[in-house]
Amino acid sequence: MPELSGVHPAWLPPEAFRAIGSRRTLVLGDDVLADTVRAEVAHACARYGGTLHDDRDGAYDLVLALDSEAGVGPEGFVLSRHDGATTVVAGGPAGLLYGLFEVVRRGETAFGADLPAEAHRPALRRRMLDHWDNIDVHPVMGQVERGYAGGSIFWREGGPRDLTRVRAYGRLLAACGINAVAVNNVNVHATEARLLTDRLGEVAAIADELRPYGIRVHLSVNFASPVALGGLATADPLDDGVRAWWARTTERVYATIPDFGGYVVKADSEGQPGPFAYGRDHADGANMLADALAPFGGVVHWRAFVYDHRQDWRDRSTDRARAAYDHFAPLDGRFRDNAIVQVKNGPIDFQVREPVSPVIAAMPDTRLAVELQVTQEYTGQQKHVCYLAPMWREVLGFRPWGPDGRTVADVATELVAVSNVGDDPYWTGHPLAQANLYAFGRLAWAPGLDPADLLDEWIGLTFPVAGDPGRLRRILHEIMDGSWRTYERYTAPLGVGFMVRPGHHYGPDVDGYEYTPWGTYHFADRDGVGVDRTRATGTGFTGQYPKPWSDVYESPAKCPDELLLFFHHVPYGHVLHDGTTVIQHIYDTHFAGAEQAAAMRDRWEKAAGDVPPELHARVRELLDEQVRSAREWRDQINTYFFRKSGAADAHGRRIY
Ligand code: GCU
Repeated sequence: MPELSGVHPAWLPPEAFRAIGSRRTLVLGDDVLADTVRAEVAHACARYGGTLHDDRDGAYDLVLALDSEAGVGPEGFVLSRHDGATTVVAGGPAGLLYGLFEVVRRGETAFGADLPAEAHRPALRRRMLDHWDNIDVHPVMGQVERGYAGGSIFWREGGPRDLTRVRAYGRLLAACGINAVAVNNVNVHATEARLLTDRLGEVAAIADELRPYGIRVHLSVNFASPVALGGLATADPLDDGVRAWWARTTERVYATIPDFGGYVVKADSEGQPGPFAYGRDHADGANMLADALAPFGGVVHWRAFVYDHRQDWRDRSTDRARAAYDHFAPLDGRFRDNAIVQVKNGPIDFQVREPVSPVIAAMPDTRLAVELQVTQEYTGQQKHVCYLAPMWREVLGFRPWGPDGRTVADVATELVAVSNVGDDPYWTGHPLAQANLYAFGRLAWAPGLDPADLLDEWIGLTFPVAGDPGRLRRILHEIMDGSWRTYERYTAPLGVGFMVRPGHHYGPDVDGYEYTPWGTYHFADRDGVGVDRTRATGTGFTGQYPKPWSDVYESPAKCPDELLLFFHHVPYGHVLHDGTTVIQHIYDTHFAGAEQAAAMRDRWEKAAGDVPPELHARVRELLDEQVRSAREWRDQINTYFFRKSGAADAHGRRIY
């Protein structure tokens, strides 16, 4: 529990441990994680005057003990309180750690009224963050691809960093339930490819820092490594020499890092090498790596983000939304048990609004990880407040087979997200973006949690010494609860997506991608806008969903308004369920969204006395930028559609 100078403690300030630190605590267990729990308690006691014990005989306020028969799995625990003692009975060492952090979250409440036994266990077995970090600093992307919080916490330019901060990072992650981290970018460049071989020591050093917090390390690898690193003539997954190379290389990895998690692979996607070059498919590629990892209990995360990024915009038969399903659904049942197909939550690419990916319902015989994007590539790049938990909650609770069927959270075996963390003093650039990281971990543990409650938890832990906690809580809820929908209002309308500046993806550029090879088009003309993905007249994408959604999405009358332009090309005069026309909806939401951004900034002024002045100033500056950017979006989008359609705003507001 290093307290790092110049680094914000996020949701684990010393005060979060006050309730535990002032009490008598017994910790039983003799594993590295039990040692971590003891160290945490001892540290808190040193500050707040409590005591740590290891002898069963005595009266304690808090007891943390192991019982493999507890019936809650290795990461679960049973929490209860009676006769003045709070007890955590953990199913395994990790459960001890998660139990401790549950007590931290509850603070004094954990030592109040009696509590009948409550069983806690994670809904998803792996709760993982993917870092898109590079060792080298890229001239355009910077060090962290799509990173908005400075450089990497693992590497400084070209070499490893002092990793003290990584230990603190692991602690924050464990406190919200995360248990795996992939340390490097899915686009594996030449330098980073070597993390698998001669630079493996750098990965081992990171693993050493994260291990005490129950976090396993995974590595993104380049599919062509046998050629690039091994000097072989081929990377064909069915070639014996290639298979032997991976087996040997993987054996060395485990000799160095015995609890290594496994590989992450982006193959045949956006220029990354893959099995297609050898006439093989994704199952061949994934299974080869799965076989190399299996003897050591490792897994391969094989990403389903595969599409043609060299599409001709004139070609109306190709639909990027279809690509992942077309590539992967036919392979269902062919992946090994330790090959996990990792699917982005939507069919395109982390837009502010997309339907749930149809791949999730199409591979019943494959282990699936759903991938979310905590880093705000398309949702304001950590300059805008955009609390994403409400979106993730919708995704996880979506029922692909209709109201009586299972949810996405039921179908997925794992939840993965692209991290939003860098070497910034607040970890996430925007201090309020910490809430997204926290909420991701908590939702991966318990997908049914309410986003507003999670925000409340985060506020309570992160801002312990605020002047008037009630007031700050209210202000933060007013700013953050609805911030995802606010962002949606002032950006691309009704699920159509993109309209961002090509390359960096920040700020509006309505036609920026319209005539590019990337497959992200809105097709606006003088009469209407949107992508026809119907079976009747469009790309047929709606047919990738099971019923009822294949029918709901097929029909412009039934399709939810917020996804209308994702599935349909409609006239500007098309009337939405709420009675407004599409064009009037565009005007209304864009005026409203920009106004709401301005209202957020006004609200934040009222929190001036409740948070540290530097934090207040940083958020205020960022809100200035959000207000400016939201106006820019409003004016570009409204003007664009006014010029295309010639339709006047019913309220006569200023459009340029
Ligand atoms: C997006 C993002 C890329 C990233 C890719 C991926 O397209 O812009 O930077 O590499 O997703 O998920 O692989």
